Amino acid sequence: MGRSYLDVMTPDELVAKVKNLPPISQAALQLVNLLDEPAVSNEDVVQVLKYDNVLTAKLLRACNSPYFGLEEPVSSVDQAVLILGHHQILHIVLTLAFGGAMAVPLAGYAVESNELWRHSLTAATASEFLVTRGIEMNVDPPVAFTIGLLHDIGKLVLTQVLTPEHQRDIRALITDRGLARYEAEKNVLGTDHGEVGGALLRAWNLPEDIIEAVSDHHAPVLSPSPKLSAVAHLANCLAHRVSPAPALEAYAVRVDPRVAEAFQLSPERLENMVEEVHNSCDRVDHFMSLT
Ligand SMILES: [Fe+2]
Ligand SMILES: [Fe+2]
Repeated sequence: MGRSYLDVMTPDELVAKVKNLPPISQAALQLVNLLDEPAVSNEDVVQVLKYDNVLTAKLLRACNSPYFGLEEPVSSVDQAVLILGHHQILHIVLTLAFGGAMAVPLAGYAVESNELWRHSLTAATASEFLVTRGIEMNVDPPVAFTIGLLHDIGKLVLTQVLTPEHQRDIRALITDRGLARYEAEKNVLGTDHGEVGGALLRAWNLPEDIIEAVSDHHAPVLSPSPKLSAVAHLANCLAHRVSPAPALEAYAVRVDPRVAEAFQLSPERLENMVEEVHNSCDRVDHFMSLT
C-alpha cells in the first residue's frame, strides 16, 4: 500500500485524463463567474441566460412549477428574474445546469445515482443558511449556494480514475485504520476529491475563491480569517448530519473544532443548526424534482 499508482499525477493531470465529464452549460459557468463581481444586477443575469435557449426553457418551466406559487406564469427570463429575484434564479439555474452531471451513480465511491446530487443540494442549502443566519461572515448567498453545490464535484473525476485496487485500499484505510475518506484518498492517490474538484473548476475558469473553497473543504483555511473553505466544510458536515450517512462517511459529520471555534459555535448551536437545516429539506426535495 502507499503511493504506488498515481503518484506522478497532479489534480490537474487527473482532470485532463478524464474524458467522460458531462458538458456543463457555458452560460451557467459564466453565471458562476459573475458571482465574483462586486454587484450583480438582474440585467447581468438576464444577459448571460439569453444565449442559452435550452437552459432558459428549463428555467421557465421550473419557475412555473407549483412550488413557487406564481399567480401568473412567467414567459421570459426578464420576468422570471424580476419576480423571483436574481438570487433565487441563480440557485435554480445552477441546480438545472449541474443536476445532469451530478445525479449519476459513482461506482468508485459505491454511491448510487442521485445520492451525490442530494448531498450536494443539501450542502448548498446548508451553506446558504450558514451565511444568511448561521455564522458571522460576509458572503453572498449565491456564492455560498455554489460552493455547497460543487464541493464534492471532484468525486465525478475520481470515480473514473479509481481502479478496483484503489477502491479496496481506500476502503481498508477507512475501515481498518480509521482514516477519513479524504485522508485515505491522499494516502493512495496523493490527492483528494476536494483538490481534484478545485482543479476541475480551474479548468472551467471559475473564480479563485470558489476553487479554493472546493479544494480545501476537508482542510479548511482559517487564518488570518476564515475562508470560504470553512463554510464549505461546515455545510458538508451539516448535510451529512441531516441525511442518513453511510458508515464509511461517518467521520464527515464531525465539525473541525478549529472551525467551530473560529465561528464561535457551541455544541448546542451546532445541534440547533442541524435542526434548522433539516427543516429546509423540503426545498432540497423540490430542487431535486427540477432536474
Ligand atoms: Fe468531500
Ligand atoms: Fe461532501
